[in-house]
Amino acid sequence: MNPEKRIQDLTDKLHYYNQRYYQDSVSEISDFEFDQLLKELKGLEDENPEFRQADSPTQRVGGTITKSFNAVYHRYPMLSLDNTYNEQELRNFDERVRKGLDGEAYEYICELKFDGISLSFTYENGVLVRGVTRGDGTRGDEITNNVKTIRTLPLRVKSDKLPPLFEIRGEGFMPLTSFQKLNEEMETLGENQYANPRNAASGSFKLQDSAETARRALDCYIYSFLSDQDFFKSHGESLLGLKSWGFNVSPGWKKVANIDEVIAYIHEWEEKRMTLPLATDGIVVKVNSFEQQRELGFTAKSPRWAISFKYKAENKPAVLRMVTYQVGRTGTITPVANLCDLTERALPYNKVKGVHLSGSRVKRATLHNANELLRLGLQLGDTVFVEKSGEIIPKITGVDITQRELFPTQPIAFPTECPECGSALQRNEGEVAFFCPNDSHCPPQLKGRIEHFIHRKAMNIESLGEGKIETLFDLNLVTTPADLYDLTFEKLLGIEKSIVNEETGAIKKISFREKTVENILKGIDLSKTVPFRNVLFALGIRFVGATVAEKLATYFKSMANLRAASYEQLIAVPEIGGRIALSIESYFSIPENQQLVERLIQAGLQMEGDEKPVEIESNVLEGKTFVISGVFESFERDDLKDKIEANGGRILSGVSGKLNYLLAGANMGPSKLEKARKLGVTILSEEEFLAMLAN
Ligand code: IVH
Repeated sequence: MNPEKRIQDLTDKLHYYNQRYYQDSVSEISDFEFDQLLKELKGLEDENPEFRQADSPTQRVGGTITKSFNAVYHRYPMLSLDNTYNEQELRNFDERVRKGLDGEAYEYICELKFDGISLSFTYENGVLVRGVTRGDGTRGDEITNNVKTIRTLPLRVKSDKLPPLFEIRGEGFMPLTSFQKLNEEMETLGENQYANPRNAASGSFKLQDSAETARRALDCYIYSFLSDQDFFKSHGESLLGLKSWGFNVSPGWKKVANIDEVIAYIHEWEEKRMTLPLATDGIVVKVNSFEQQRELGFTAKSPRWAISFKYKAENKPAVLRMVTYQVGRTGTITPVANLCDLTERALPYNKVKGVHLSGSRVKRATLHNANELLRLGLQLGDTVFVEKSGEIIPKITGVDITQRELFPTQPIAFPTECPECGSALQRNEGEVAFFCPNDSHCPPQLKGRIEHFIHRKAMNIESLGEGKIETLFDLNLVTTPADLYDLTFEKLLGIEKSIVNEETGAIKKISFREKTVENILKGIDLSKTVPFRNVLFALGIRFVGATVAEKLATYFKSMANLRAASYEQLIAVPEIGGRIALSIESYFSIPENQQLVERLIQAGLQMEGDEKPVEIESNVLEGKTFVISGVFESFERDDLKDKIEANGGRILSGVSGKLNYLLAGANMGPSKLEKARKLGVTILSEEEFLAMLAN
């Protein structure tokens, strides 16, 4: 078959299977077969890009890099909703609607209010052509490649009757399960975790690499339809229409006849909403008829035909029974409150079920760090108040000290030693967290380092994920990353272990069968080809994240050079400051780390970079420092950085008194600009910069 025909064929087939799966919940073929077809299509498209369809399902897996997103105007502004917090305010809204409609009969649609980020999607002739964030409501970022990774969002709509141009809107979100997984991954990599699923969704929709967005399994619930034509008569009709076109219309919506039914809907969903895969913080009421919506119109900020009602975060008293201390993968100590319900005060702690809060039982709440304990002024035995922030993560909001008279309490002594290995804890100046400095022997840290080492962004030994590392670690087969390279088929075959999840009690069985072992060894072998910058990142040196590792690899070009570098040589590298330099120096001064690196060299890992060195063009910018912000006409941001370095300049990470120039592009944030002005930093336009180079 000719490639054009086959591409067309595969595209249609994959669309069909997708639709069956997401709309009808039917899998006509296995995931494996689906992936094979997708791979075949991807291969053909790469060879024959001219035949790729605009709505190709290969875009679901991402793969495009967007250096900076275009700001685009919304065809219809994206407004916000007025909020209400009690029934009376809702009834007042109803009164305004009644008056506004001059005695006409009207109905409402009730929907849940989802806590994600609002997105707009434009379809031309049935094909998704644009996805945009809300932005400031007038203008948002165009993130089309990223929204195409939302599996439930149709890339094309098939229907005989479609407006040639229409826009739909919905709430993009990260399902709670994906959020937890992502934060665990962030912890493994020693990166900052997201505070809540909303921030995670927002960050993930704006990643430059759409393949990474695809991995984060984002989703979207659709809640509105807009077009220049009168296509549907009412909001309810449009939701039914969108559903029939294959959109993932928000679940739970309902048509109701009056405000009493709205209030009944609120009660109905107060608990039920906890079963949804994302946080909801209220409900939205919309006048159903589009004609009546037009009659009612808008205020400057929000429609007069809709309002939201916010549920109050449930806040309950609980007893602080114990504080336990978790040692993270990077040695950070996190105090955790162990709680029980007021009625469980006298029960032994292993018998308690916890406080009933927003749909689940809560037994633990993070206390973040020692300062938080002081801030709240907690004592053991205290009656505290617990709330779920964003309905997800339980937190302690305060203490009822009047209860201390009835129930005596004891002060909390923050440990001075690591609960896992007994080392004396330390705290760096200016940081809130205590940490265990014993990074070469403390068990959770050792295990954490191996998990970091095999991560996709490091050595990419994915065949070792999900409990296998834990098994090998517990059996003492792998206690440092270098041990991975001594594993053999004989050592691994037949290993079995059951891992119990402490929270849920669920048991997972891990067994190393022939095929598994082959895969693991293949993955380990392949890791010998990953580039030097990944190897450097994989070591897990404190403060050396993926970006810093890349900079160091480009600059020093080999492990040998980096190990030999002095503090002065390290801080001479653009963007490497004293904190990173000290951390690197201290890493290589520890005998265990030296041995590890030696063994990794012996194992044949890449210890030299193939990165292109900076090609020096001139020294016109020598001794000058720059911060780049905003979007530029003639350069991508990275190219601009290269240009500055190639001409002897240095890039700094933030605006400070030391800075010479702020290179200001379009759409840059006002706070940076203001700070630069205050500090007397020279602000350069793109033209002025080019003129400076030409001199
Ligand atoms: S309708 C003109 N429906 O709430 C109002 N919004 O404050 C258009 N939201 O930015 C929005 N669930 O991100 C609508 N079922 C729902 C919603 C919803 C969540 C968000 C949306 C919007 C904000 C309005």
